[in-house]
Order: sequence, then C-alpha cells, then structure tokens
Amino acid sequence: MLAIRLVSGSIQPDTLVLPVRPGGPDAAPELAPTAWPGDDVRAEATALLPATRLTGAAGEVREHLRPAGAPTRLWLLGVGDGDEPDWRSAGAALARATRDETQITISLPDEVAALRGLTEGLLLGSYRYRLTEAGPRPALARVDVLVADPEALADTLASARTTAEMTWLARDLTNTPSSTKHPEWFADQVTAAASGRPDVHLRVRGPRELAAEGFGGILAVGGGSAHGPRLVELDWRPADARTHVVLVGKGITFDTGGISIKPVPAMKLMRKDMAGAAAVVAATLGAAALRLPVRVTTLAPLAENMVSGSAFRPGDVIRHYGGLTSESTNSDAEGRLVLADAMAYAVRELKPDLLVDLATLTGANAVALGKRHAALYSENDDLATGLLAGISAAGERAWRMPLADDYLEYLASDVADLHSSPARGAGSVVAALFLREFTGELRDRWAHLDMSAPSWSDDVHGELVKGATGWGVRGLLRWLATLG
Ligand code: BES
Ligand code: MN
Ligand code: ZN
Repeated sequence: MLAIRLVSGSIQPDTLVLPVRPGGPDAAPELAPTAWPGDDVRAEATALLPATRLTGAAGEVREHLRPAGAPTRLWLLGVGDGDEPDWRSAGAALARATRDETQITISLPDEVAALRGLTEGLLLGSYRYRLTEAGPRPALARVDVLVADPEALADTLASARTTAEMTWLARDLTNTPSSTKHPEWFADQVTAAASGRPDVHLRVRGPRELAAEGFGGILAVGGGSAHGPRLVELDWRPADARTHVVLVGKGITFDTGGISIKPVPAMKLMRKDMAGAAAVVAATLGAAALRLPVRVTTLAPLAENMVSGSAFRPGDVIRHYGGLTSESTNSDAEGRLVLADAMAYAVRELKPDLLVDLATLTGANAVALGKRHAALYSENDDLATGLLAGISAAGERAWRMPLADDYLEYLASDVADLHSSPARGAGSVVAALFLREFTGELRDRWAHLDMSAPSWSDDVHGELVKGATGWGVRGLLRWLATLG
C-alpha cells in the first residue's frame, strides 16, 4: 500500500503537486491557499494557469516540466470547491495520473476534509487486485503531504488510512476467485485479520455446531457444496461501549442458483455474492482498529450455493434458527435463508440495540436504483437517516425504499410459516419483507441494505476501480463513529 506521510518545513521536493480551485463566476481558476511553496514557484504556477486550460474541477490534472528548476516537475490538480468528496476524486485522479512517478509531494491546506478526502482517494484509487506479479503495477510508492501543522492532522491521516485499508480488505475478499474462497477459507481470513487485536473475539461455527443449534437455513444452502458452511461471529467489545450493534452480512462464496440454476450471464459474477459479509467484517475490524466506543458484533453466514446430489430442492421446507419455517420454491433465493438464521440468532441470543444487515440480495436492486445505489429499508426514521448520512458523508450512496405491506400476502405458504421466494412483487422489497419476519423485537431497530448493485464497478469511477468496490465499509465506519 502507498505510504503517505505528513511533512512540513522547507523541503526540496522533486515533484510537487499544487491544488487548483475554480475562480468565482466568470473568474479564472486559481491556486488553492496552502502554506507552501514560496512565492516564486507559486507565481510561476499562477502565470501558467491560463495556458493549462484547467477549470479547477475536481480530478483535473496537468503536468508541467521545469528542466532547470526545483521542483523539476509541477503537477496542477483540480480540487473543485475543496470539500471532502472533491478531494477524494482529486486524490484518486492524482494516483492514476502519477502512477509512473515513484514519489510525489503535495501541498495541502491544513483541513481535516482535505486530508481525509485526499488520503482515501489516493489509497482507494491506487487499489489493484492481481493474483500474479505480471502486468503493469503503479510505481508510485510514497506521497508526502506538505502541511503547516502535521501533528494536528496525524489522527485524521491514521483514520483515513484505516478506512482505506479495511476497504482494501473487503475488495480483496470479494475479488478472490471462488475456487479459493470457500466458506472455511473466508473464515480463516477473518481469523488471521482478527488475531492479535485487543478486545476482539471470534467464534467460527462449522456444520456440526450449526446442526446442533438449529441453523437450518445456512445448512440447507450450504448442503450442496463439497465445502461445508460456516458462521463467523466476530465481536469488537470495548470496555467503554454503551451501544451494541449487530451487523449481518450475506456470505455466499459462490451462487450458482442451486437446483434453480442461473443462466451463464447471470452466474458470471457470482463470486461477489459475499460482498456483504466482507464489508461487515472489514467495518468491524476497522471499528476495532479505530477503537470506536461502540460494541459491534458481526455475523457472517458463509455458504456456497451449489448444484449437487446433496443440494436443497425447490419445494423443501427449511426450519430456521429459532423455529420459523419457510417454503423455498427457488433455490436461487438463498441469501435471505442464511440471513434469516443469523438475524434470528442475533435477536434471540445477542439482543443488541440495533441490527443492520448488508446483502447482495437481489438483481432488482439495480433495476430500481441503478448501478451505484444500495437500497435501504428500515421502519426507524432515525436509524435510516443516520445510516444514510454516514454513507453519503463517506462517499458512498444509498436510497431509502418503502417496506410496503402490500406485498406481505405473497409471503404466505400452504405448508410453512413463510414462502421465501414468491415470484411476484418488487423483488428487493419482497426480500426485505421476508427478512423483517426474523427481526422479532428488533423490528423497529433494524435496517436492511440491499447492496448488490454498488458492490461491483464495471469501470473506473473516482475512487472506484474495476471490480469489487468494498461498498459499505466506509459508510458503516462513519455511522458507527457517531454512535459512541
Ligand atoms: N445473489 C443474487 C442476487 C444478485 C443478482 C446479486 C445480480 C448481484 C447481481 C441472489 O441470490 C439471487 O439470485 N436473487 C434472485 C432472487 C429471486 C430468485 C427471488 C434475483 O434477484 O433474481
Ligand atoms: Mn441466488
Ligand atoms: Zn445470492
């Protein structure tokens, strides 16, 4: 990972980046105020500006060579109005533009939003997932950030770095091919990432324990795979916590659809079907690294939804944790079955103050909201508003959807308490209504995020690169930090 340091004083950088912002209406763009560099370089950059045709919009970059000068390279970077999202896009654009430099120095205003946005943008924008050493890799290894008072900004840098590191972790887990990441492998990764962290506790249940305790949904979905299911329970339990949050993340390490098998195009990307589990695990480890004063227990039900002689069948009735039964006529609606077990367990055994689940639950998420918005469902306005605020402050996107009782009748079954996969109604809403049946006393302290759309990016977009986005890690960390 790119090394980022705060520096101050009279240094002699070889490659210097100066931020540019738009002027007022009809006015030319101008250098953003920073403590460095001295007047001569500043005057030269200002004189250059008109010829660069920069507007100052966030993410614009121009390189200028100064053969006889020090610095020898001057980069001008558009930072827009200089708010955090602008700095995040600027940081990502800078990482891409300077990928062949080895070290750069950037002059920054002494502002929390600037440093946070820049750091996240640089780190998230320079993320690459590759299984081999072959192929192009960015040369950029070090960024020195020039500010007046490094000490005052040290904590901001550390927390932005932790946020980005945990987003990298979620992206790595989600990008990993499913030939590698079966449930046991995923649980081992969590064990490794959690080990040595004070006040972090971990329990992993295997098939035998799941059977003994009645996790029928996880066992049914995981039954078709040669690699048995797991339930990860990861607990960040600081002594000073007053609030207890349970996060639940869908962890289907590959979704073939099961006996109700998916067609080729729909199955292509189903290694990402554990992005919810990856995000909640990474957010919990982030909360621990930042020592946020809130207890966070993460449940990641992990299973591979396969086609085989031991796979569960359409028409099977599943007995979930806690005793509710569901009739399942489409084995491709597997996510809600594993979530139901984990949520019922949380409600009955952990009794938290708040329950939030993240899941790549339905293709309908993207149909309703497009490719970058998660669907948020909650009956609690404060919880919904708080989550939406954290998500958007962190640079992610979600949109609140209705939990419309109109579809409740579709969940009726002739043979079980519930029908898990009705073929009618708005897919994402119906799935949310099914999950609501497992929230018990926490019904109005629960939020569900259907994040199948924003969990993956088909293109480079700001701080997102192609592939897994790590959606949810940033937003959850922002939100958890407000709970205290
Ligand atoms: N994992 C899929 C949802 C999904 C689809 C995620 C596309 C990302 C991109 C989920 O398990 C699924 O198959 N859902 C079905 C539900 C249906 C069978 C009720 C769907 O959305 O079609
Ligand atoms: Mn499915
Ligand atoms: Zn799925």
